[in-house]
Amino acid sequence: MDAPALRWGILSTGWIATQFTAALQRSTRQVVSAVGSRDLATARRFADEHGITTAHGSYEELVTDPAVDIVYVATPHNHHFPNAQLAIAAGKHVLVEKPITLNAQQTEQLATAAAQAGVACMEALWTFFLPKFDVIRQLLEDGVLGDVQVVMADHGQYFEADHRIRRADLAGGPMLDLGTYPISLVAELLDVTTVQARGHDLPDGLNAQFAAVLSNDGGAEALVHSTILGKTPTSAFIGGRSANLSLPGDFYMPGPFTLSSTDDTQHLTYTEPVIAHSALHFQAAELARRISAGELASPLRSLDASLRTMRVMDEVRRQIGARFAEES
Ligand SMILES: NC(=O)c1ccc[n+]([C@@H]2O[C@H](COP(=O)([O-])OP(=O)(O)OC[C@H]3O[C@@H](n4cnc5c(N)ncnc54)[C@H](OP(=O)(O)O)[C@@H]3O)[C@@H](O)[C@H]2O)c1
Repeated sequence: MDAPALRWGILSTGWIATQFTAALQRSTRQVVSAVGSRDLATARRFADEHGITTAHGSYEELVTDPAVDIVYVATPHNHHFPNAQLAIAAGKHVLVEKPITLNAQQTEQLATAAAQAGVACMEALWTFFLPKFDVIRQLLEDGVLGDVQVVMADHGQYFEADHRIRRADLAGGPMLDLGTYPISLVAELLDVTTVQARGHDLPDGLNAQFAAVLSNDGGAEALVHSTILGKTPTSAFIGGRSANLSLPGDFYMPGPFTLSSTDDTQHLTYTEPVIAHSALHFQAAELARRISAGELASPLRSLDASLRTMRVMDEVRRQIGARFAEES
């Protein structure tokens, strides 16, 4: 609530755009001043539902709206890169849904474009802005866990055949919607230098699930798994020499975690309201604070951190043979 208000333009009107706008309006002083859709009637409907003054019938009109300071890109994965480029070219700050782009090369291009334009460009990886992760970060920085030796994280959900995650033309498969969470967690904790991955495809060739062992040069290992074929625990475990953290599912959302001694005799549990996507506003408030202070990035999710994640995701995809249409 105390974050200085920016004027936001919502680019697209789908599921996450709805959740984000509602969270912003419920829990911050941020102003949602405009929405843009490929279709004016759709934009108008979204604007009416959320009490937004201006509705634009194209993304181009939205990003050039002088009453917009920052654009939130909430389109399908393979549209993030061109849509974010559009906003940056119009001189607007941009918050881009996760994963920020399809691959590391696109992230590098966005970083260069944002730096040249003098605007902020940040990945909306909301997990790292949750109060829970603020506490986890403090425990890690204080050395409570000791050297991290093992990480285990998964993310699996079942999707019917008509969901966009099953569509190759929208960069479907588990990686970008789900796998990005366990992989970004590992990339936050370990300097990953080695990747060993296996995958399984659907009959139409779309990747359905993958597992990977990610290691650093010091011998720490992480196991990650992601699938669109079934609901999995979606939990995370971070094991250090002195203590460990257990995050029950869904680890990437608001919720509890437990700090345990390695001999398993002492336990401390952190709790917070389990409010799911109502917590999408924390990332927006953080970015608004930074921009209002004249900064163009947040240490909670720097573009370097996004790039580290994308590089691991690229390597997993290379090994399991999962390429996007834009890459072939
Ligand atoms: N942070 C989270 O927890 C979370 C959760 C879900 C999704 N996401 C991310 O948010 C992004 C969008 O996911 P979503 O579930 O909100 O998708 P969605 O409901 O399908 O909405 C996507 C929107 O993008 C626009 N769009 C532009 N080009 C499109 C195209 N070719 N096909 C379909 N839609 C197109 C549409 O808006 P207009 O018709 O108005 O132009 C559509 O409503 C994904 O990258 C996903 O990873 C994040």
